[in-house]
Amino acid sequence: MLEVKSVSKIYRRTNKVVTALQDICLTIEEGDIYGIIGLSGAGKSTLIRCLSSLIHPSSGAIFFDGEDVANMKGGRLRAFRKSIGMIFQHFNLLTSRTVEGNIAYPLEIANISREEQIERIDKLLKLVGLEEKKNTYPAFLSGGQKQRVGIARALANQPKVLLCDEATSALDPHTTKEILELLKTVNKELGITIVLITHDMEVIKRICTKVAVIEAGEVVEEGSVSDIFTTPKHPTTKQFIQRTSHELPEEFFKPSSPNRKLLRLRFRGKAASEPLISQIVKKFDVETNILLGWIDKLQTIIIGTLIIELTGSPEGIAQSIAYLAEHAVQCEVLENGS
Ligand SMILES: Nc1ncnc2c1ncn2[C@@H]1O[C@H](COP(=O)(O)OP(=O)(O)OP(=O)(O)O)[C@@H](O)[C@H]1O
Ligand SMILES: [Mg+2]
Repeated sequence: MLEVKSVSKIYRRTNKVVTALQDICLTIEEGDIYGIIGLSGAGKSTLIRCLSSLIHPSSGAIFFDGEDVANMKGGRLRAFRKSIGMIFQHFNLLTSRTVEGNIAYPLEIANISREEQIERIDKLLKLVGLEEKKNTYPAFLSGGQKQRVGIARALANQPKVLLCDEATSALDPHTTKEILELLKTVNKELGITIVLITHDMEVIKRICTKVAVIEAGEVVEEGSVSDIFTTPKHPTTKQFIQRTSHELPEEFFKPSSPNRKLLRLRFRGKAASEPLISQIVKKFDVETNILLGWIDKLQTIIIGTLIIELTGSPEGIAQSIAYLAEHAVQCEVLENGS
C-alpha cells in the first residue's frame, strides 16, 4: 500500500546541512498497524511528513498503491491527500470551532454537501464516543477527548491510511490505553491502515503488528513486533525493550566467570509450558537462581522473560545454554546490564 524506497531527506539551512533521513526503505501493507520508533531527533516526524507529502524527499520515492507520489498531479494528488488522515501530539484543533465544527472542517474543504456532512459527523462522533460533546469547544475538553476529535476529523474524508505522530505522547497512561484501543477499532472495523510513530515501546507492544526502529535517520531494525521482542538484534532496539522491562539492581551484574553466567531467557508459545529450568539442573548438574521474571502480552502473543544466574562447570553451563536454545528459548548472556 505504502512503499518507501531509498528515501533521504536533507535539510539545508544557511550554513548547516542536516541529513534527517538516509536511505530509508519500508513497506507498509494494507491492514498493518505499523510502528516507527526512535529517539528524539531520529527523523520520525520527517518520515511521516514525507509519507503524507507535506514535504518531499531529497532523493528516493514514496509509492502509494504502486504509484509514485511525486508524479501525482491535480485530481490524482488531491485524491491521494484525501486517502491519508493525520493526527498529532498536540491535537491541532481549531479553538474557535466546536467539536462538530472541527470535524466538519475537512468536509467543507472537500465540498461535501451539508446533509452528508451531518450524517458523517454523527457516525464519527458515535465511533469516538463524543456524541454528548458535539457542541463543546476544545478548551472544555480533556486531552483524551481532544485526541478523539482529532481522530474523528482525520477520518472525516474516509482515508485509507491514518498517520499518527506521537498521538499519545501528551496523554496519561490510562488515556493512552483508551486512545490506542480506539485506534485498534479504527483499524479492525473500518479497515484503515495505521502508521504510528512513537518513542515509547509500550505503545508498539500494545497495538502494532510491525515495527521499524530508526536511529539518526536510518532504519536499524525492522520486523514483526513479536520477533523484534523475542530476538532484538540492534543495541538501540534492545534499549527500547529494556526500558519497558523490569530492572535488575546493578549489584547483580558482577562480571561473569567461567563458572557463573547471568542469562536472560525469553519463552514464547510451547517453550513457556515446559519445565526447562528443572531439566537443565538435572541433566547438566548446574544450579539456577531465578532473579527476576515477568510476562509481556503483545496483543495475542504471550512472552515470558526470566533473568537467572547459572552456576556450575563451564561445560555444564554451555550445554544448558545449548539445550535451552534447542527448545526455542531465546537465551542471552548478560555482561553488564544490557
Ligand atoms: N525544518 C527543518 N529544518 C532543518 N532541520 C530540521 C527540520 N526539521 C527537522 N530537522 C532536523 O532533522 C532531524 C530529525 O528531526 P525530526 O523532527 O524528524 O525528528 P523526530 O524523530 O520527529 O524527533 P522528536 O521525537 O523530537 O519529535 C533533527 O536533527 C532536526 O533538528
Ligand atoms: Mg517528531
